[in-house]
Amino acid sequence: MIHISPSVLGADLMRLGEEIELVERLGLAWLHIDNMDGHFVPNISFGPDAVAAIRRKTKLFLDVHLMLSDPRRYIAEYARAGADLITVHAEIEDDVEDLLREIAALGVKTGLSIKPGTPPEAIGRLLPLCDLVLVMTVEPGFGGQSLREDCLQKLPVLRRMIDASGRDIFLEVDGGIKMDNAHRVVEAGANVLVTGTGLFHAADPAAFVAALHGLQEDKRCAR
Ligand code: DX5
Ligand code: ZN
Repeated sequence: MIHISPSVLGADLMRLGEEIELVERLGLAWLHIDNMDGHFVPNISFGPDAVAAIRRKTKLFLDVHLMLSDPRRYIAEYARAGADLITVHAEIEDDVEDLLREIAALGVKTGLSIKPGTPPEAIGRLLPLCDLVLVMTVEPGFGGQSLREDCLQKLPVLRRMIDASGRDIFLEVDGGIKMDNAHRVVEAGANVLVTGTGLFHAADPAAFVAALHGLQEDKRCAR
């Protein structure tokens, strides 16, 4: 099953409540919230208060992506704010294994992300601690960039590693997913698609969602 995780970064923030209602009306279950600290990435966005405000508004599964150099300092706050899943980056200078254990101990699902320059093998030993692996297909920091096709090569590798682990780990892709490339992302093995501008800037968001759900059918037929 393919999950679509609309990224709030691509929404019209002046109308965030309506944008969340749109996601619900489209029948989607996830919402992706990007948090940036101006240090790990050259941009700043949201924070635990924004997550808490969104939590009060919706029951959607809150997929919280932390692009922070020191996420350890904030994970308890994000958990209290109502995050369902917290993703941290493999590239940070911290004991990521211990951090993932801490997130799990807070009763929140765990995610681990790799930037375009990080190989899948770098996180192999951490897979037993992950509920989700997030492959960035752009340099993190900004919405509206083009998907880097070279990053898609990592997906079959990770899919094999996940299958070998025997655990049901989500494989999520984030950055530049559009109507014309989503099939390649799914064919490569992803089952969670983040979409910011692709969905929120679409002339017809329902058609965009239907197209992505159609890919799921294609994949089932191909098996
Ligand atoms: C980028 C963020 C993404 C971003 C995706 O650093 O992690 O979640 O919102 O936006 P689009 O789909 O527009 O590339
Ligand atoms: Zn993201």
